[in-house]
Amino acid sequence: MKVAIGSDHGGLRLKEEIKVLLDELKVDSHDFGTYTSASVDYPDISRQVAEAVAGGEYERGIIVCGTGIGVSIAANKIKGIRAALCNDVFSAQMSREHNDANILTLGERVIGCGLARMIVEVWLKTEFAGGRHTCRVDKIMELEKN
Ligand code: RB5
Repeated sequence: MKVAIGSDHGGLRLKEEIKVLLDELKVDSHDFGTYTSASVDYPDISRQVAEAVAGGEYERGIIVCGTGIGVSIAANKIKGIRAALCNDVFSAQMSREHNDANILTLGERVIGCGLARMIVEVWLKTEFAGGRHTCRVDKIMELEKN
């Protein structure tokens, strides 16, 4: 699996921890920035990661900001993206099983590194359940057509 990853300055440190985890899990990833603690606008990073996932170059994306909220809102504006803000493990699992989320967003100022590692690992390993959830996800994607 190829994973696109990114953060603004508010999520930089947690993103670095997640990159270590992805290496440990032998997951192929690319960091779309930001690369320094200088202040940046989170929609710019979110857009790059979301377009890389929507374009099919990467199967999944992970984006971190201070709360996880801004990057999630921005990513969901890109067609084909189902970004889920999951600051707990249960939501991470459900976002994959029920919503087929293709982007995970996290808040560095909300959760610690240990919890973030568990969330990322569960989110990457959980498959979409399909079945009754398929037509619901299809209906979400229908909303993009207008
Ligand atoms: C940056 O200060 C902060 O607003 C950003 O990281 C994020 O929390 C926005 O949703």
